[in-house]
Amino acid sequence: MEPLQQFEQFEAAALAALANAKDAASVEAARVEFLGKKSGRIKELQDLLGKATSEQRPTFGAKFNEVRQRVTAALEARQLELAKPKASLTGFDISLPGEPVRLGRRHPLTQTMDEFKNIIGRMGFTVANGPELEDEHHNFEALNIPLDHPARDPLENFYLATATATAGGPVLLRSQTSTVQIRVMEKTKPPIRIVSLGRVYRPDTIDATHSCMFHQMEGLMIDTSVTMAQLKTTLRLFATAYLGRDVTIRFRPSFFPFTEPSVEVDMSWGQGWMEIGGAGMVDPSVLRAVGYDPDEVTGFAFGFGIERFAMRRYGITDIRRFTENDVRFLSQF
Ligand code: DAH
Repeated sequence: MEPLQQFEQFEAAALAALANAKDAASVEAARVEFLGKKSGRIKELQDLLGKATSEQRPTFGAKFNEVRQRVTAALEARQLELAKPKASLTGFDISLPGEPVRLGRRHPLTQTMDEFKNIIGRMGFTVANGPELEDEHHNFEALNIPLDHPARDPLENFYLATATATAGGPVLLRSQTSTVQIRVMEKTKPPIRIVSLGRVYRPDTIDATHSCMFHQMEGLMIDTSVTMAQLKTTLRLFATAYLGRDVTIRFRPSFFPFTEPSVEVDMSWGQGWMEIGGAGMVDPSVLRAVGYDPDEVTGFAFGFGIERFAMRRYGITDIRRFTENDVRFLSQF
């Protein structure tokens, strides 16, 4: 074979071996076979150079350099190619810095409600749920709120213009979680000890302490001899468990159609007081309406705003913060 042909054959064989190498190990094997310092086939070409006549040497030398350069370049290209991620990731620069992962977290109100369930759960209350879309029976009638009561004014409630309940009456977004008391009593026999936490809706003018949607925790305890003292103790224990020992709870005589006697409940806040909700002994007519005998069972009920507890605990001065979805606010909890 002509020496120059030997150079070409070496190149062709080396390029073919590299092209067929499917992984880094076979590329390395090809490198050793062709370019290896000790016994690579490149030595044969070097021998040819050594034997070349002085006329041949410049041509052979140039050819040798070209061939070695091309094979070395092909080797490096193949090594790079195999180090790259597979087809699905081509066009993707793996050396770019990653995007920092922003950890989400539970909404402060969800955290508050979870903590409420925990505290009140330790006092023996289990969690009940009710629908946010209600009929007038559960939102008013069964709670002893008569048709001419101002709370039923359509302007004080979110009635749905078109929908009607299966029973045929109008449907509204519930204005209080007291609805769940009725739903639970309708299908459960005493004793009962439940809470229900969720959204309520009122067309109030929105300001720092009022919203058209907020959350309440309703409580209901029914047994043979439930007393007002137990109600007050339950609420005090609950409030101090959530807010700490320095909170003072105050009860003011009040009126609700579904409790007798009724109280409004305030908590100390700074120099003053903030109303947190209402409570009382379940009215005998409410018990009767769900088929209980008021001579056999008594009960207490309470309902208060969840936002206000969270606001006091965290020093939040505007209830609107909870629904603005501002990450700078939310990420603090
Ligand atoms: N449902 C009342 C409201 O939203 C609060 C309330 C008062 C709940 C007295 C009760 C209760 O369970 O006994 O204003």
